[in-house]
Formats: sequence, structure tokens, C-alpha cells
Amino acid sequence: PLIMIETSAIRIEKTTQSRINELDENNIPFGRLYSDHMFLADYKDGQWQDLRIVPYQNISLSPANSALHYGITIFEGLKAYRNKDGEVVVFRPEANAKRLNISAERMCIPAVPEGLFMEALNELLKIDASWVPSAPGTALYVRPFVFGMDEYIGIRPSENFRFMIITGPVGSYYTKPVRVKIETKFSRAFEGGTGFAKAGGNYAASLYPARLAQKMGFDQLIWTDGKTHQYIEESGTMNVMFMIDDVLITAPTSGTILKGITRDSVLTIAREWGVKVEERPVAVAEVVAAAKEGRLKEAFGVGTAATIAPIATIGYEDEVYDLPAADDSFFSRKILKQLSGIRSGEIADKHGWIYKI
Ligand code: COI
Repeated sequence: PLIMIETSAIRIEKTTQSRINELDENNIPFGRLYSDHMFLADYKDGQWQDLRIVPYQNISLSPANSALHYGITIFEGLKAYRNKDGEVVVFRPEANAKRLNISAERMCIPAVPEGLFMEALNELLKIDASWVPSAPGTALYVRPFVFGMDEYIGIRPSENFRFMIITGPVGSYYTKPVRVKIETKFSRAFEGGTGFAKAGGNYAASLYPARLAQKMGFDQLIWTDGKTHQYIEESGTMNVMFMIDDVLITAPTSGTILKGITRDSVLTIAREWGVKVEERPVAVAEVVAAAKEGRLKEAFGVGTAATIAPIATIGYEDEVYDLPAADDSFFSRKILKQLSGIRSGEIADKHGWIYKI
């Protein structure tokens, strides 16, 4: 149910000690600096209440908190940009609000009404607008999340929850093309599991296999299906796409693959450009054969944090395959330019993807 929340329903306590002078636009690391304020709401007695924006600060939790013990926690990631006219815009936030609730259902978390999500986002970004950087490649990363707040060590769906939004200015997620290894032993997700949800545990479980690959000199993994390890699913925390000859190929979203918003945006534009797009299972064997034959023109991750992360090298079994270095003729470059142009307002937003604060 969509409930409209009056602005006045959010209690606002502003900081008297802004940390904005810590922001150096030309040198922003990913995910280390947080804006002055944060949003909170509590779910109690079957409803969301006590909506508030307060100075960014630590929160206190019971040691028996259900999220800490059982991973009852989900999140979203989206970005706010400063457009060419200096206005603050957000890219497809309604899509994040919807996806948050898809994740919520899987984890027995109550839905956050879209109206509440949008109002909270809007008010928070108004208050912290000065934190939205404008240098090319920068953005304000927005992290909404919901977690269990029960003080109960038994395992059952929580009855109390907290919805929060924190934000922080970010630069590039990856600074150079990545080296990835096709993972054939460990799995990120499996049929019937939680791969499609942005559940904290999915990310926790991915760390050990990724660390093993990092010890072998790779940056990240290409995840394969949990049953046969013969089909490619995602790369790192992103969806992954391949340009084989002149066809853009990516796995279909399913129970094991996150329905990426950047993924959808890239596919939409590619189709409009007349690029041949195939959403279908992508066999490891097909990608490796194409790499050997020089027909694998491009491979790249697509996600909110990096937008487009070009892949330089793919490792599989004992071989490594180097891909051509991207230049301006590459699809991955053109699509990044297009998305950046839409966000900055230099290219018309004909899909209605831009939400103005
Ligand atoms: C993404 O946008 O790729 C993410 O999910 C990033 C996040 C885990 C930092």
C-alpha cells in the first residue's frame, strides 16, 4: 500500500557541527566518508513510526539484536548526482524502492511503503544537498537499509525493524580495468536461495571465495550457477555482460541473479541503439571459446557503485585470457558516456529515469 507521508511527519534535528570541510571533491575514496545527516524509522506494533532525520552518528543495539545474529538485513544502493545546472538528481530511485521490498519479502521484513522511501530520500537529500559532489565520476552514494531490531536470541522472523538511509560522497569504485576469475567451486547463489535479494548474507558469503581469488592476483570473481558451474551469473557484486562478435549477451535475471537497475538501463539503451541483445544463459565454455578465438570483444560488470567496470583479464582453470583495452569505440565506453550524459542533463531523459530533489 502506498501511503503518502507529510513532510511534517519527519522530525528533523540538524547538526550544529557540519563535517562538509572534510570533503575534497578531487580525492573521494569509496565508502569512507558520510554526510552530516541520516534518516531513521522504526517498525513497531505493525507499523512504521518515529520518522526522523538526525546528525549522522552511531546507533545503539541490543547484544541480542536479530540482525547481528541471523543476518536479518537488506539494503539498496543508488546515487544522487549534481546536474549541469547545479541541481541534485537521483537515478531511478523508485526502482530501488520496489527492489527493496522484493528483498524484504524474502527475508520476512515488512515492506517500506514507496511513499515513505521517497519522502525520506527527498528530505535527507535536501538537507545534505551540499554533499553531492560535481566532479566527473563522482556522486553521492545513497544506502537505504532495513534490519531486524528484536531483542531475541531464538530464531524466528523479527517483529521490530529499523529502516535507515545514510549517504556519502564517492569517487570511482574501481580505478582500473579488473582481473576476474571464473569461480567453479564456490557459489554466491543457488536456485531457491536468496541470490535475487540484496540481503546482507549474500555479500558476507561471497567474501571468502573472493579472498582466495585475490590471493591468486585477481580482483574479483565471475560467479557461476551453483549446480553445474557451467553458466555465468554475476561478477563480484555486479551483473556482467559480454560483447561476443557484435552481440551483447547477459544472463537473464532469475532467482539467483540480482535484477540490476544499471543492468536494465544498459539493456534498454542498447536495444534502442539497435545493438543485438541476448538475455539468455551464458555458458562458461562459450565465453572461453570466444576469448580464445578473439571474438570476445568486451566484458564488463554493471552496477550502481561502479556503473561500468571493464574487465581486462579473465582467469579460467589454469589459463588467463586478456581482453583488448577499451577505447572510445567500445560499447562499454559509449554506454557509460550516455548514462553520465543523462545524469548530468546533457542528454535528454526520455525514459523518466531522473528524479529531481
Ligand atoms: C554495486 O552497486 O555494485 C553494489 O552492490 C555495491 C555495494 C556492495 C558496495
